[in-house]
Amino acid sequence: MGINKTIESINDIFQEGKEIDGFLIGEEVHRGGMAVLYEATKEGIEYPILLKVPRVGRDQPVESLIGFETELTIMKSLKSPFVPRLAGAGNMAKKPYIAMERLDGRPLDQIIEEQGGKLSDIQQTIDIVSNVALAIASLHAQDIIHLDLKPENILVTKDNKVAIIDFGLAHHTHYPDLLVEQMRKGVGSAPYIAPEQVMGIRNDWRSDIFAMGTILYEMLTGELPFGSPSTINGLKNRMWSEALPLRAIRKEIPPWLQEVVLRCMEPLAANRYQSATRLRQLLKSPESVQLTARAEKLYPNSAWDNMKRWFRAAGYEPSPCPKPSSALDNAPLIIAAIDTRQNDDVLRERMQNTAIHLLQAYPESRLICLSTISSTPTFEGNAESETASGIVRGHLVQLMDWAKPLKMSTERVSFHVLEAMDPASRIVEFAQDNHASMILIGASHKIPAKVTPWRTSMTKIVEEAPCSVHIVRSSN
Ligand SMILES: Nc1ncnc2c1ncn2[C@@H]1O[C@H](COP(=O)(O)OP(=O)(O)O)[C@@H](O)[C@H]1O
Ligand SMILES: [Mg+2]
Repeated sequence: MGINKTIESINDIFQEGKEIDGFLIGEEVHRGGMAVLYEATKEGIEYPILLKVPRVGRDQPVESLIGFETELTIMKSLKSPFVPRLAGAGNMAKKPYIAMERLDGRPLDQIIEEQGGKLSDIQQTIDIVSNVALAIASLHAQDIIHLDLKPENILVTKDNKVAIIDFGLAHHTHYPDLLVEQMRKGVGSAPYIAPEQVMGIRNDWRSDIFAMGTILYEMLTGELPFGSPSTINGLKNRMWSEALPLRAIRKEIPPWLQEVVLRCMEPLAANRYQSATRLRQLLKSPESVQLTARAEKLYPNSAWDNMKRWFRAAGYEPSPCPKPSSALDNAPLIIAAIDTRQNDDVLRERMQNTAIHLLQAYPESRLICLSTISSTPTFEGNAESETASGIVRGHLVQLMDWAKPLKMSTERVSFHVLEAMDPASRIVEFAQDNHASMILIGASHKIPAKVTPWRTSMTKIVEEAPCSVHIVRSSN
């Protein structure tokens, strides 16, 4: 069908010297796994600007598109003096970019590296991380969990003030979480992610407390408390293993600080400090830290202790996470399964109308527009439309087009492209995982029954769905 040919490839849009929505693109300043950042200027905006553009094309991860949507949603809703201002944004179809204020702080990873892997000044470490805790508290107060806190994503100014960047993996309790589905396994950076995140849990704000513990540990000792594992099993170690006591590596670290850091890194979220504000308070007033045996520890756990912890972790159940502030959790979820290949305009309109009616009837409800693709190319071509991420972008754009007439706010609608050999099973599974209340599917009379697997798919969905299924027909 060549659906991607109608949208311009991202590499063609974003080039130094070009102008987009009044933003003049300057030099590329960073090329990460999921995004490229360019300097930019725009008349009327007096502060320096960066454009963050998702990487799409050959060998690029599909997650970069989800990260882009996530980051944009969060930056739009977030009001915090510790986060760069949003200067503008473009949409997925035409030109996906986020324009934000370029802050003059330096990334913490650079500061750590320059000082030889750890910070010689313990008080400076405490000052920086207590400011990180302050910034994180302002996110948590707005129901946003960062989930990818690490030195690279923290900018530090000369007076140790901080800003938090990079919301591509963040979670907002009021918005649909696009990443839950994409990555059942842990998302985030191996050295810093909390054990519950390794298990795919994305709604526990105490995961950020864990990350702050690991950052403190690294800044104080020059070591990563749980290394940098590259396998799930390696990541699971942190569910039971206790990091080597900091004072075994650096004697001058005060016992109270060791207590604080180890407590932040407790495997069970319920055993950590329960808020970023609390962590900040303790870092500011060490005399109020409640010391336990681990404050003085100088040696690693005995093999026997580790064995006990390992057994306990065998049944590792993430701590119950108190419900987020909003009641939206109980909002019914409607899935519209949209066959992007079919071109039955009557059906399309009827499905859209049904979706509108349902969303109006249930003001708390949310809609997920879903489409499945059979597979993405194993060997990618050079053109964006010949790559997995390019194909997915094309489908996302189609889904977004589909939903446009619904005129729904972004917090109520989200878009997913699932790769599946057996679309029906995948849709059913998706409905199950997301506790959907209803699946909306369309039956087109335009498609001859023989050539489409869609009709049999439909039967399967009706039979196996864990919720009600509403079939919209193109003619009565
Ligand atoms: N608003 C900003 N101000 C200054 N530097 C920034 C800003 N945003 C990003 N950077 C720099 O670019 C790097 C990558 O940005 P980030 O948003 O973390 O992208 P990625 O998803 O590739 O990690 C950061 O580590 C930081 O050095
Ligand atoms: Mg980053």
